Formats: sequence, structure tokens, C-alpha cells
Amino acid sequence: MVDHPLACFPPGSEEHTLIGRIDLRRLPVHVAITMDGNGRWAKQKNLERNAGHSAGAEAAREVTETAARLGIRYLTLFTFSSENWKRPAQEVRFLMDMLYENLLKRQSLLKENDIRLKVIGDNDRLPARLRRKLGEAEENSRAHRRMQVNLALNYGARREIVRAVRSIVAAGIDAGKIDEETVARHLYTADCPDPDLLIRTSGELRVSNFLLYQIAYSELYFTPTLWPDFRAREFLQAIVDYQGRERRFGKI
Ligand code: IPE
Ligand code: MG
Repeated sequence: MVDHPLACFPPGSEEHTLIGRIDLRRLPVHVAITMDGNGRWAKQKNLERNAGHSAGAEAAREVTETAARLGIRYLTLFTFSSENWKRPAQEVRFLMDMLYENLLKRQSLLKENDIRLKVIGDNDRLPARLRRKLGEAEENSRAHRRMQVNLALNYGARREIVRAVRSIVAAGIDAGKIDEETVARHLYTADCPDPDLLIRTSGELRVSNFLLYQIAYSELYFTPTLWPDFRAREFLQAIVDYQGRERRFGKI
């Protein structure tokens, strides 16, 4: 019973009502999220940007747990883009340290919720101790089956595609034999189905170099809610919205 998605939210709560509206047999298999608006959230509260990132980490934890309980199989979180290095060094350092601390603290979250962690992106530029910790978390959670979380770190979709092309060429695959599947198999997400739903918070109506190849048929959900305020309730609302859409994949 503890595992039932209804168990964690009391009857009468908004979350409980939303869960009642969700058809568990038609869940999106893969949800991708661009977590945006930490800085603006902090600014609104007269806080330092870094306080927004801390609150954002808490939102990420809550959404991850909710997704796992609900039965989402793949969750991809845009955590740090290849463009985010251009931020002030102090902020980049804070984000890297925060990730490291969270990996220390959240091992139990992965275990208790049976979540497998995977990093997607070029992790070569990440601080060595963070890289090591990420490797450990990937290794320790390898056998977890309930949900896979892809943390997009130093990720950029165009670069991912270039990397795929290079590895196809390096593998000596005959040009005539390369098809869409071949490309998909050489992306970081080779082991996941394409996202059914892409969420972006904070009112920005852009894709910003995230999963460009994979989102060809994804449903897009944009919300003005700033990421630190995007909690279980907002996530469930996005799922309800998704289920209200008709997906045709080019058919009539
Ligand atoms: C998202 O929030 C966090 C990261 C990109 C690491 P932002 O930091 O982009 O917040 P805004 O866009 O400045 O509000
Ligand atoms: Mg932003």
C-alpha cells in the first residue's frame, strides 16, 4: 500500500484529487524537464541566486520522488547546460558543490525509491570529485529498476548529435545503412524511449538545445511557475494536462 501513488497524499489534498484524475495506464513513459527560474524565484524574495538553486534542488527531489511513485519510467532533468559555464564562477562553483552534496545525501533516495541514476552530457569538464561521486552513484544504482533519472550535466543537444555522428563514423558504419535508429542508438539516451512530455518552467517558451533529436513528437508543457515552486502538485497537473491531449504522430 505504501507503494500506491495515492498513499503519500491525504484524501482532500489537491494532490490526491489530481491523482484521482490520472489514468495510471496512460502515463507518459519518459518525462523530460527544463528546470528554469531559480534566479528569478530568489530575486522575488530578495535572496541571493544561490538560495534559489537550493530551493530548486528541493523541488527536484520532490518531483523525482513523485514521478517514481506515480510510475514514470524515465525522468530526464536538465541540470546544467553546456552554456551555464558562462555564469559567474562563484555561481558555477555553488552549483557544482550543491550537486556533490546532494549526491552524498540522496543515495538513500535512489535506494528507497529503486531509482537508477545516469548522467548524460560531457562530464569531462566537471570537477574531478563530482565526477567520481556521479560514477559511484551510477554504479550503486545500476540494478535499480523502478525509474531511471537522467541528469543532464554539461549537456547540449547539438553537441550530443555531433558526438553521435563521430561515433557512427568511427564505427565504420556504411553510409547507406545509417537510418534514424542508428542515430538514436548513438545518442546519450540510446537506452530510453523518446520523451512523451517535455516540461519547461518559468514561462520561457524555448527548447534551448535540450534533447533536440528526441523531442520530435513530444508534447510540450510550458508553465509560468518558477522551478523552486514546481512541486508534486504542479507535476501532477502537468500529467493531467498531458493526458487531455490527443497524440497523433502525423496521423489523422
Ligand atoms: C535554473 O534556474 C537553474 C540552472 C540553469 C542551473 P536559473 O538559474 O536559470 O534561473 P533564472 O532563469 O535566472 O531565473
Ligand atoms: Mg534560466
